Amino acid sequence: MSETANTNIKNTGLRGVAVADTKISFIDGEQGILMYRGYRIEELAGKSSFLETALLLLNEDLPDKGELDEFTRRVVEERKMPDFLAECLKNLPKQASPMDVLQATVPLLAAADPELTVETREANVRKAVRLISRLPAVVAAWHRVRNGLEPLPPDSGLPHAANFLWQLHGEKPDPGMARDLDVCMILHADHTFNASTFACREVVSTQAHMYAGIAAGIGALSGPLHGGANARVMKMLGEVESEKDIPAWVRRQLEQGKKIMGMGHAVYKTTDPRARILREISRRLGEKLGQPKWYELSVRVEEAAVAEFERKGLSTLKPNVDFYSASVYCMMGIPADLMTPLFALSRIAGWCAHIIEEKFADAQGKPELYRPESEYIGHYCGQMGCAYQAIEDRKPASQSPDV
Ligand SMILES: CC(C)(COP(=O)(O)OP(=O)(O)OC[C@H]1O[C@@H](n2cnc3c(N)ncnc32)[C@H](O)[C@@H]1OP(=O)(O)O)[C@@H](O)C(=O)NCCC(=O)NCCS
Repeated sequence: MSETANTNIKNTGLRGVAVADTKISFIDGEQGILMYRGYRIEELAGKSSFLETALLLLNEDLPDKGELDEFTRRVVEERKMPDFLAECLKNLPKQASPMDVLQATVPLLAAADPELTVETREANVRKAVRLISRLPAVVAAWHRVRNGLEPLPPDSGLPHAANFLWQLHGEKPDPGMARDLDVCMILHADHTFNASTFACREVVSTQAHMYAGIAAGIGALSGPLHGGANARVMKMLGEVESEKDIPAWVRRQLEQGKKIMGMGHAVYKTTDPRARILREISRRLGEKLGQPKWYELSVRVEEAAVAEFERKGLSTLKPNVDFYSASVYCMMGIPADLMTPLFALSRIAGWCAHIIEEKFADAQGKPELYRPESEYIGHYCGQMGCAYQAIEDRKPASQSPDV
């Protein structure tokens, strides 16, 4: 009945294709280097705070003290969730996934933004402040509501990460643990053109507002090959807890065609620099809390997986950011299904920075609407198109699904 068009396009997932210029972050995947605005991630993790790093991403350089104080004041001021949103959360089915809830609340936060349609750079920075400030409140409130508890008001005396832990658990966190969480948030704050950032930028290239881009980014992050990997790592650690022979378990997984979650990366061909920092936090936290189990299990899985990958000639597969963040978050009392939302509460800084960069490119003017090509490989009956047959004249297709 028809010919099929030819194609030379392979499903490459755009690997190695540069789709835009950016001044926000840089990765050298061979050397394992990550920089935000020219600053190495190790330097920022050791010396900066999440809010200072967020401001670095939104602007072009580190803020001075006055700028950081003002930014912090505005984030603290915007922490309260709109009342109608708290009511909405109470009406949601309790089994709803926290990532779905987070994604669903973004358009509702848009509805409450007084500057939604103001498309200046300054107004978009203020929208970013509201998102950075309010998303943690949404995640914490949803966790409490689904457990039959009232959401807690923010504590204006607590720094950003500490306030999240307070609103989540209802206990003032240990300052050392809150600082560790702040460092985790720095490490997750940006990562060039990953799938979710690309989704944000693609959506706002249509001149849609920032919230529309962020909702798309959260959707992209939810997948197990992207942000969803940390929760899968935790599930894996739970599974291997009772295994006597972890190398044999790793071999079985690979023989069954399964992936070892938290291993491998689309860009890094060596250890992800964030994983090195998280590995140390995991070790230190385990020691401090007297719970070395999750760190030790992670190390044993890493060693077994890396040895097996090397045996198979896959020596570039090493731990990524999700591998050790799972044990760290677990020791902080973060349930597995809140690990990906927590990633989103950090990546929101990078997403907003990229959206602003996309909207207000540079002196050359606004960027183009993203509109890639595809290669058509479906039925083709020539330029006149296929003849439309009346339904009663059609023969059943051989591969019709059973209905
Ligand atoms: C992140 C990821 C999607 C990158 O995929 P990618 O760009 O295709 O990776 P590579 O090209 O380096 O993969 C090379 C080979 O290693 C395999 N591989 C990659 N990661 C693997 C893993 N974690 N476990 C087992 N095998 C893996 C691939 O299937 C591929 O094998 P093939 O050539 O037989 O198809 C992939 O490593 C993965 O799925 N990791 C687990 C999920 C995860 O941790 N995601 C979070 C990323 S931050």
